[in-house]
Amino acid sequence: CRLVVLISGRGSNMQTIVNTVRTQGLPAEVCAVIANKANASGLEWAHAHGIQAKLVAHRDYATRTEFDQALAQAIDAYRPDYVLLAGFMRVLTPEFVEHFNGRLLNIHPSLLPAFPGLHTHQQALATGVQWHGCTVHFVTPVLDHGPIVAQGAVPVLADDTPDTLAERVLGVEHHLYAQVVRWLAEGRVSLDAMQRVHVRGVA
Ligand code: GRF
Repeated sequence: CRLVVLISGRGSNMQTIVNTVRTQGLPAEVCAVIANKANASGLEWAHAHGIQAKLVAHRDYATRTEFDQALAQAIDAYRPDYVLLAGFMRVLTPEFVEHFNGRLLNIHPSLLPAFPGLHTHQQALATGVQWHGCTVHFVTPVLDHGPIVAQGAVPVLADDTPDTLAERVLGVEHHLYAQVVRWLAEGRVSLDAMQRVHVRGVA
């Protein structure tokens, strides 16, 4: 199972994915890590760990469409079975999403459909929810909206700040994406005609 992971910064989710594939001997390979920003420290980490690390900088392109086209071409070169967005902070065009339809996943730091968009932890605290978490979903043209593959929940504590909550969620993100990558590598994830996700062998 050929994977390409897209990042914009630290890439802690990407690092977890790489470590999971390697330490658990999964039938999968992270063929490349691609970032849209030159200062994404995850690129250095990937390179240092023997993974092709590539920059496709959105600032180098005049329009969103041109960037997305260049990004799609860079990804296609690796012939991925799945493209995993991990801390990738760009809204992708419908054309890009369609090109990778059914093969493009993202992790969002909230229990979707609650709190789409940015600053999810501030949203959770402002709303007073008692449970928060993260969601791995297939990407569709509607932002933070696609078919849900897996979710992980964390309690919101009385003295939580956005940072303490973000840290608790990030720990679950790592476990969640590792679980989903195992399922993808084992070929157990499918989307039915109603765009519902089925994971073979999982309730
Ligand atoms: C984190 O806030 C995480 O919740 C979200 O993207 C941000 C960076 O994650 N998915 P990463 O460390 O770059 O994977």
